[in-house]
Amino acid sequence: MRVAPSILSADFGRLKEEILTVQEAEWLHIDVMDGHFVPNITIGPLVVKALRPHSKQVFDTHLMISEPEKYFDPFIKAGSDQITFHVETVNDVDKAIDTLHKKNVKAGLSIKPATPVSTIAPYLEKVDLVLVMSVEPGFGGQTFMPESLEKMRALKKIKDEKGYAFDIVVDGGINDETAKRCKEAGADVMVAGSFIFKSKDRKARIDEVRG
Ligand code: DX5
Ligand code: ZN
Repeated sequence: MRVAPSILSADFGRLKEEILTVQEAEWLHIDVMDGHFVPNITIGPLVVKALRPHSKQVFDTHLMISEPEKYFDPFIKAGSDQITFHVETVNDVDKAIDTLHKKNVKAGLSIKPATPVSTIAPYLEKVDLVLVMSVEPGFGGQTFMPESLEKMRALKKIKDEKGYAFDIVVDGGINDETAKRCKEAGADVMVAGSFIFKSKDRKARIDEVRG
């Protein structure tokens, strides 16, 4: 079980110090919002570039933006190791995945709570990760939606039956208890924001999420 602390819930006035407290987690989850696809605005490539020298973690970049392809290059140049975009935002999903792969970056596909797994079925063979949103994207600190567990189970079933390699990642409302349920449902990686960053003991929280 890998853990991806989401810096959305970190203290933005001291981001470097904040990420240094979560280095035992394998990934660092970076939420990018544009005020258009979601009703909030957060981080751009400049912030990713500023953080890059301070962490060896996988920079897991979650684009919650319209026209994400326009911003692949700036985030890759800034140091993103993998880029996840929302299937709801792209017309030619195949092409977007291929573009990322050509640039040697891992490609992730995300689905909002209302988007069924069937929407992304055609891409599961070549995508590196699927990010299942277990809250409405836009804000940290929301309550986990249990309906998302069914999606993780469905993805796990496809993955096992077809022998696909993608990671099942869950994002939103993750704590020690919901992480356990997601793990049972087949999730490989847990994104957790407020549960980790709202505690002083980040290491303990990462361990609790890991289970
Ligand atoms: C929500 C973001 C999440 C968020 C999760 O749109 O994609 O990554 O940071 O925050 P918590 O863990 O507090 O629900
Ligand atoms: Zn996210």
